[in-house]
Amino acid sequence: MINDIEVIKTKSSKINEVDFDNLKFGSVFSDHMLVCDYKNGKWQAPKVMPYQGITLDPSAKIFHYGQSVFEGMKAYKDAEDNVWLFRPLDNCKRLNISSKRLAIPELPEDYFMEGLKALLEVDKDWIPKKDGSSLYIRPFVFASGEGFHASPADEYKFLICTAPSGSYFSGEVKVLIEEKYSRSANGGVGFAKAGGNYAGQFYPTQLAKEKGYQQVIWTDDNTHEYIEEAGAMNIFVRINDTLITGPTSDRILDGITRKSIIELAKAEGINVDVRKLRVDEVVEAAKNGSLKEMFGAGTAAVISPIAGFGYKGEDYDLPKMDDTYANFLKKRITDIQTNKAEDPFGWRYKL
Ligand code: PLP
Ligand code: COI
Repeated sequence: MINDIEVIKTKSSKINEVDFDNLKFGSVFSDHMLVCDYKNGKWQAPKVMPYQGITLDPSAKIFHYGQSVFEGMKAYKDAEDNVWLFRPLDNCKRLNISSKRLAIPELPEDYFMEGLKALLEVDKDWIPKKDGSSLYIRPFVFASGEGFHASPADEYKFLICTAPSGSYFSGEVKVLIEEKYSRSANGGVGFAKAGGNYAGQFYPTQLAKEKGYQQVIWTDDNTHEYIEEAGAMNIFVRINDTLITGPTSDRILDGITRKSIIELAKAEGINVDVRKLRVDEVVEAAKNGSLKEMFGAGTAAVISPIAGFGYKGEDYDLPKMDDTYANFLKKRITDIQTNKAEDPFGWRYKL
C-alpha cells in the first residue's frame, strides 16, 4: 500500500501566463508533475514536485533501445467545480499491458491512482472549464537505467505531467489510407502505447501531410487490404445506418474511447458491427453513396469527423450532413465525461 504522497509546491505558479480561452493541444504544462522511480527491484515513493527538466545519463536505455510507454487521459471540471476523470483504471491497466510487452516493470494500481489524485489536487486550477477544453494528462514510464547492453534497464521513471488543452486537430481532417508502410505487425507492439509506435509513423505521416492529409489510416501489414486505425485514434465508418469498426488485435490499440462508443452507440439503438473492414468496401461505398461518415475516436481526438480520404491516388469526399452519428455520439460521450448527463455505464470517476 502506498503511504501519503509528498508534495513540494512551486513558489512561482505560471498559471497567470496562460490564455485559457485559446488553448492548443499539449503545449503548455501545469505547475507540477508526479515522479516515481523504480530502483533496487521496486517502485519507490512517488512525489509531486514543481514541473521541471530531468537529468539522465547519456547511456540511459530510453535513448538507445526505446523502452518507453505512455497513456493519455483527461480531467474535466463541471459547473460546480467538481473534477471528473473518465475510466482512469482502464488507463492504468493498459499502461501495465504496454509495460509488460516492453519488459518494463508494472506499476501498482494505487501508485497510479493515488499519484494522479495527489497531482490533480495541487493543479486543479489548471483544469479548464470552457466547452471543448480539458486538462490533458500524460502518464508515462521510461528506462532511466544505464548501459549500452541491449537488455532491459534496471531503473525506470514513472511520471505524470498535465497540459490544459483545446482540440487536437485544427480544421478539417483528411486522411490517407496507407498502401505501403505499416504501423505494426502480428506479434509486434501495435497494441501497446509504446513511444516507438509513434516514431515509426512520423515519416509516412510527413509524406501524407505533404499531400494535404492530416493522418494516415493504417492498413494491415500483410495485405494492406483492411482498415486498422489512425496514428492517434481508432476509426469508425458508417455505411448506410451501420457503424463499423475493426476488431482489436495485437496490431491495434484497444482504445478506451472506441470501446465506450461501441457500448454507447448500441445503447442508443445504433446498429454497430465490429468486424474486419476492407478498404475496397469503403471505396465502393464512397462511389455508390452508401458511405455516410468516417470518424476517428480517441482521448485527444475525442470524436473527429473525417472530411475525406485518399487512396491509390484518388480522393473521396464524405457527404456534408448535419445529422451525423459523430455529432450525436460526441455530445453523448462529452456530456457523460463532463457531468452534464447521467452516466448509466459507471464510467465517470469523481476525484
Ligand atoms: N489508437 C492510437 C494509436 C492512439 O494513440 C490512441 C490514443 O490514445 C487511440 C487509438 C485511442 O485510444 P483512447 O481512446 O484510449 O485514447
Ligand atoms: C491520446 O489520445 O491520448 C493519445 O495518446 C494520442 C496521442 C498521440 C496524442
